Amino acid sequence: MAKVVSILSGKGGVGKTFLTANLAHAVALQRRSVLVFDGDLGLANIDIQIGLVTKRHINDFVLGEATFEDVVAHSQSIGCSVISGRPSHGIIVNTTPLERRRIKEALARAALAYDVLFIDLGAGIEANVIDFVDLSDIVLLVVKPEPTSIMDAYAVVKALPFALRSRIVITPNMVQTAIEADTLTRQFGGVLRRFLQAEPRSLGFVRADASVSLAIRRQQPISTCFPASTAAVDIRALADRILVDQFVPRPATA
Ligand SMILES: Nc1ncnc2c1ncn2[C@@H]1O[C@H](COP(=O)(O)OP(=O)(O)O)[C@@H](O)[C@H]1O
Ligand SMILES: [Mg+2]
Repeated sequence: MAKVVSILSGKGGVGKTFLTANLAHAVALQRRSVLVFDGDLGLANIDIQIGLVTKRHINDFVLGEATFEDVVAHSQSIGCSVISGRPSHGIIVNTTPLERRRIKEALARAALAYDVLFIDLGAGIEANVIDFVDLSDIVLLVVKPEPTSIMDAYAVVKALPFALRSRIVITPNMVQTAIEADTLTRQFGGVLRRFLQAEPRSLGFVRADASVSLAIRRQQPISTCFPASTAAVDIRALADRILVDQFVPRPATA
């Protein structure tokens, strides 16, 4: 079974999709097989960030018009399999609990063939987020060093069932320095421990870097176009720690 890593945040625009695509690429560079699922069904756009053109996406599976294997595409640019959440035509349907269960089961089955599954979860807590957090070994909670981002991240942890809170890994993005990341992790982690009985961990951070926007505009992974940039270095370090992490989450029913 693959290690399942999901990427979550309180609000949008904190870098979830960028981190999902680029962590997946960094893990693939380590010769691991990687599946990426664009689970941000409302704002699916990972395909655009990596310049992937797909004929099929998860809706085709939900609507029974394609098998799960059919909706898995290969991205040359990040070297991973990708399930797109964006419809090539038409709008994204709201999934029912039953449909989400089908997606979750099919995803878990497909993940058996990979070393790592990354899920771009989107912002906030909706029913589909909890389903996918339940599937995850590691939940990277992406926070920007801004009060609104931190408040919204707090609300997300609060909305998670207690047993799932142990999977949270505080992941500062767009920090200026390692010290700022450390302070954010310690202070926010302290609040989560004190008020939400969560035991958040930390595996790394990504600094703010102008190369990120340039890489996204080129629709390429940052380690391809700017391999020596600070963000690329931070992402590869974070990917390495995700790979060696041995944490075993408590079962959801505990
Ligand atoms: N480490 C970073 N440094 C600079 N800009 C970043 C960084 N991470 C993300 N960004 C910027 O933030 C924007 C939003 O990123 P995105 O991945 O789409 O966020 P989300 O998926 O959380 O909504 C991107 O367009 C990118 O330019
Ligand atoms: Mg996104």
